[in-house]
Parts: sequence; structure tokens; C-alpha cells
Amino acid sequence: MFARSQLFADLPFLPPAFSLRPETAADETAREALLDAAMGPNRRRKSSEAIRRDRLAAEGLSLVAESDDGELLGTVRLWNVSAGTRSGEDVPALLLGPLAVSARCEGLGIGSALMRRAIAESRWRGHGAIVLVGDAPFYERFGFHADAARKLAMPGPFERHRLLGLALRDGALTGAQGLIVPTGRSLPAPIAA
Ligand SMILES: CC(C)(COP(=O)(O)OP(=O)(O)OC[C@H]1O[C@@H](n2cnc3c(N)ncnc32)[C@H](O)[C@@H]1OP(=O)(O)O)[C@@H](O)C(=O)NCCC(=O)NCCS
Repeated sequence: MFARSQLFADLPFLPPAFSLRPETAADETAREALLDAAMGPNRRRKSSEAIRRDRLAAEGLSLVAESDDGELLGTVRLWNVSAGTRSGEDVPALLLGPLAVSARCEGLGIGSALMRRAIAESRWRGHGAIVLVGDAPFYERFGFHADAARKLAMPGPFERHRLLGLALRDGALTGAQGLIVPTGRSLPAPIAA
């Protein structure tokens, strides 16, 4: 029995078969390396990072793409937030990001597969809306629009045209305005040595 990569070892580049699955603790090192490579060292200075810092991702909404050889090829996570307020009440939503795919596998459909699964899983879990900061030409194909987030703001510098929203339930973002703030569970405090 040969691994797929051994069978095709003399080909210059074989697009890997991949599958999606929930992230586990064992993925951390590969995930962080992938994010560093895809987004560079400044990725931790983004406004989105201020929302994610010291928080756990939303339950069941950390996903990875993996090759049939077990290599981590892509990652996406979603975070519990309040997308501003409406009539003084929090507007429960998810913040999506980061989404990244290994550079050598870009354009093979992995990012889109992660997005579709993330949206379907979010809807299945009863979430009403997703917001993110990213390139509209990519995210609009999944239903995200700047208009849906036009009265929302990130807690830090952000480009208005890149703040996008998707209502998973009709009206979930209607009237939402103000700062997007984290509402997820805090990371457990490190155990003192
Ligand atoms: C953006 C990213 C996740 C896309 O993943 P991918 O697996 O390459 O995407 P897919 O193969 O599913 O889709 C490719 C399509 O998206 C388009 N696309 C990819 N990145 C894009 C961008 N930044 N803006 C507009 N379109 C983009 C491609 O042109 C292609 O379009 P086509 O289907 O019309 O030919 C990946 O390129 C990546 O990790 N980039 C670096 C990190 C990053 O920018 N992350 C997003 C911000 S959170």
C-alpha cells in the first residue's frame, strides 16, 4: 500500500486531496506556523486580534483542512462577539478569522471549502450572524457584504470597506450599531509552576 504522495512522487506538483475536520489541541504548532507564513509577523497587531486575545474560540467552530498525509493545509476559527447593540441590547454574533491556506495550496478550493463548512456549522449551531474583516471580492461569494456591517466598528484601526457582515437569520444584523466586542469564554489561566 502506497501513500498517494509516493505513487505520484515524480510529478512536479500534485494537488493534495483534503478533508475538513474540527481542530484539536495537537494542531496548534502547525496552525500557528501556517498563520505566521500566510499573514506575517504583524498578524497579532490586528484589531481582530484584540477581540480574540485571551479568549476561547466559539464551541465547535475551529476547523482545519488536512491532506490525506496528515499535513495541515488550512485553518479557520470563529469567535463569540456582540456585534454592537440594538435598543441597548447586545447583538450576538460570531467574528470569523483568521482564515488561511498554505501558500502552495492556494487556489485549490480549500479556503472556499473552509468558509462553506464554517458558515453551515455556524447556522447549524444556531448563530444568527457572522462579521469579519477581509477582502470583499473574496468573501462576497459567501454572502458577506459591507452594507450589513455599516454601523459596526472594530475596537481599533480598521478599513470600513473591509468590515463585512452576513446575517444567517433574517434581520440578525438589522439596526446593529457600535463596537464589536468579545463575549466568548476566557482562556483558562496558566497553572503556576
Ligand atoms: C484568501 C485565502 C484564504 C483563499 O484560500 P484559497 O484556498 O486560495 O481559495 P479558493 O481556492 O477556495 O478560492 C480561490 C478564489 O478566491 C479568489 N481569491 C483568493 N484570495 C482573494 C482575495 N484576497 N481577494 C479576492 N479574491 C481572492 C481567487 O482569485 C479565486 O477566485 P476564482 O475562484 O474566481 O478563480 C488564501 O489565499 C490565503 O490564505 N491567503 C493568505 C491569508 C489571507 O489573506 N487570509 C484572509 C484574511 S482573514
